[in-house]
Amino acid sequence: MIHTRITGTGSYLPGEPVGNQALIARHGLESSDEWIVDRTGIRSRHLAPMEITSSDLALEASRRALAAAGRSPADIDLVIVATSTPDYIFPSTATLLQSKLGIVNGAPAFDVQAVCSGFVYALTIAEKFIRSGSHRCALVVGAEVFSRIMDWTDRGTCVLFGDGAGAVVLEASEQPGLLASALHADGRHHGLLVVPGQVSSGQAIGDPFLRMDGQAVFKFAVRVLAEVGAEVLEKAGMTADQVDWLIPHQANIRILQATAKKLGIPMEKCIATVERHGNTSAASVPLALDEAVRSGCVQHGQHVLLEGVGGGFTWGAVLLKY
Ligand code: UT7
Repeated sequence: MIHTRITGTGSYLPGEPVGNQALIARHGLESSDEWIVDRTGIRSRHLAPMEITSSDLALEASRRALAAAGRSPADIDLVIVATSTPDYIFPSTATLLQSKLGIVNGAPAFDVQAVCSGFVYALTIAEKFIRSGSHRCALVVGAEVFSRIMDWTDRGTCVLFGDGAGAVVLEASEQPGLLASALHADGRHHGLLVVPGQVSSGQAIGDPFLRMDGQAVFKFAVRVLAEVGAEVLEKAGMTADQVDWLIPHQANIRILQATAKKLGIPMEKCIATVERHGNTSAASVPLALDEAVRSGCVQHGQHVLLEGVGGGFTWGAVLLKY
């Protein structure tokens, strides 16, 4: 039986952190550091300069993941990038990344669009490719420049998001790594979190900024993150007390706290980077995973529960032995 294992992680954050007060001053927002910290847990985020795109962030994160895995670009036979802020409408950010990395072996490369669940979706898809025997060494990336779709006059959303990328190398293995996964979507809720614009006839049609019903998203996120966490634990025949680290999508510290509580996992076992990254959408889970690995929190052999939830609505989880 072919198993899959993460053999390297990497991440990249552009520039210096931008604190709440600086962001408020920059955009003349009617807000305060106190409100943002109290309601979200966010203190700072990274914002990419205009000339930097998702594929640029993905490139840096991927180089670090490849180095950690001891792999070269030529070893990669599948490239998947999760992003909702691609460089272009087409071609995919994955093909741009492939080109920047110098992968010329004809490996398939494509994007996954599942907003903040994107990395969990991409990882699960890569796992299925590898388990089928068709591929052996995948590069799976979450990369976003959400600053490009912020309405900087909307204080209810623009203080929440940040830019960044995280990547993993996922390889065929004789030892189990990914133990169980689950993906879900319910398109009836597509209006709760949406960029309702399109490019047509040479211009942006509709609204090209992120719009969100924050309270509805909050409630939905906590419910499904708890449900899907329990679902993958049951699939793997494990219980919450066997989880060494919970890494949920980093949207709001209160969502992380409520999810951990519902799952029966203490906050000491929950990796939280939202304070320093804000919400980086598809990049948030691999960014947090990489930080947890590099800081020595996540050790080989430990059980890690990754969870995503985002626009669509989409949600999912991956339980793995690192
Ligand atoms: O990746 C998934 C995507 N997003 C999320 O997961 C976000 C989920 N939702 C949330 O995190 C929270 O709902 C928010 C942080 C967005 C909002 O927190 P809340 O506690 O639900 O606040 P609220 O929307 O109920 O707003 C309370 C008040 C409002 O003022 P009024 O109407 O009571 O006068 C808002 O206008 O807070 C106001 N407000 C702000 N005040 C200062 C909203 N944003 C701000 C702000 N600074 N930045």
